[in-house]
Amino acid sequence: MAKSKTHKIAVVGGDGIGPEVVAVGLSVLEVVAGKHGIRYEAVDYPFGTDHWLATGGTQGGELLPDSAFAEIQRMDAVLLGAIGDPRAPVGHVEHGVIMRLRVGLDLYVNLRPVKLYDSRLCPLKDKTPADIDMVIVRENTEDAYTAQPQFTDKGTPNEVAIQPMRYTRKGTERVIRYAFDLARKRNRSKKLLMIDKANAVRAQDLWTRTFEEVGAEYPDIARDHAYIDAACMWMVKNPEWFDVAVTTNLFGDIITDVGAMIQGGLGVAASGNIHPGRVSLFEPIHGSAPKYKGKNVANPVATVMAVSMMLDHLGHPAAAKEIEATVARLLQENVIQSLSAGVQPTSVIGELITSALAG
Ligand code: IPM
Ligand code: MG
Repeated sequence: MAKSKTHKIAVVGGDGIGPEVVAVGLSVLEVVAGKHGIRYEAVDYPFGTDHWLATGGTQGGELLPDSAFAEIQRMDAVLLGAIGDPRAPVGHVEHGVIMRLRVGLDLYVNLRPVKLYDSRLCPLKDKTPADIDMVIVRENTEDAYTAQPQFTDKGTPNEVAIQPMRYTRKGTERVIRYAFDLARKRNRSKKLLMIDKANAVRAQDLWTRTFEEVGAEYPDIARDHAYIDAACMWMVKNPEWFDVAVTTNLFGDIITDVGAMIQGGLGVAASGNIHPGRVSLFEPIHGSAPKYKGKNVANPVATVMAVSMMLDHLGHPAAAKEIEATVARLLQENVIQSLSAGVQPTSVIGELITSALAG
């Protein structure tokens, strides 16, 4: 995208700590945009559990109305805080807002970098930043996530519940292709790891075959494979073996929480929900942490890193790298002392980052 363009960014703070960490993300964006001559317009949306409750809750409360969805569809990016609140039924608002955006905008790649910025942040013995630098490419529009749950004989001893793991050739192929391209672009191990459970979930034979077929078009990229259970083990035992990995939606959800831990916790882990060349959504991996809401204790670093990923997607890699390098330096110099909640106030970490960027 051209530098002169004004990027339209939808902002959905969401639930719990979401609005607080997003406020920090926006302050970082403002400083960096000023420095790099990036023009943008942020449009705030109120969606989340408060909005759902205020508009009727279980009596037809609003999640993400079609009119707002249509507006967002025409924008360049979405910055999202977090969705999830115990006042709503499990998964209801998540489904209506996050899943609606992921699936509705066809954001088929969930890009989740796992990078350690300083050894002291890692719970694994003797692992250094040289050992932990990988990207997990999680499929983001299929799998059990987007299949309808079905219950028969509900509430009886004969109840059966199903929600199939559904994969399409097109959905599988496009995300695998993205991952091969990424392995090529990163130019590190020149290896792509596919993570599945094809030995138990035989439907994932589609992934096995697609990986082989698409991989044949990338003779410079070696193909590697691990089952999800083993991959979780290797990620803890030998994270240095990982470079780029591609996996299904559900397994990607699980393994990226492991990834977040080895890079220092959910306080640092960011993600991009991407459709290359189209409006895409950036968010911290962490949830809404309702108990910390409004307390100014949540760590905003993950959201700041999501802003960095967003700028990269919008065609501003230098601005993206500047944010990342600044956060990395502040962590290495112990200016940002921890990635855990409550060590330094949310707003203080925000000011440390913005003043480091401005200085
Ligand atoms: C994530 C979250 C979501 C997911 C939830 C909130 C639906 O855990 O982004 O990893 O499972 O994808
Ligand atoms: Mg998750």
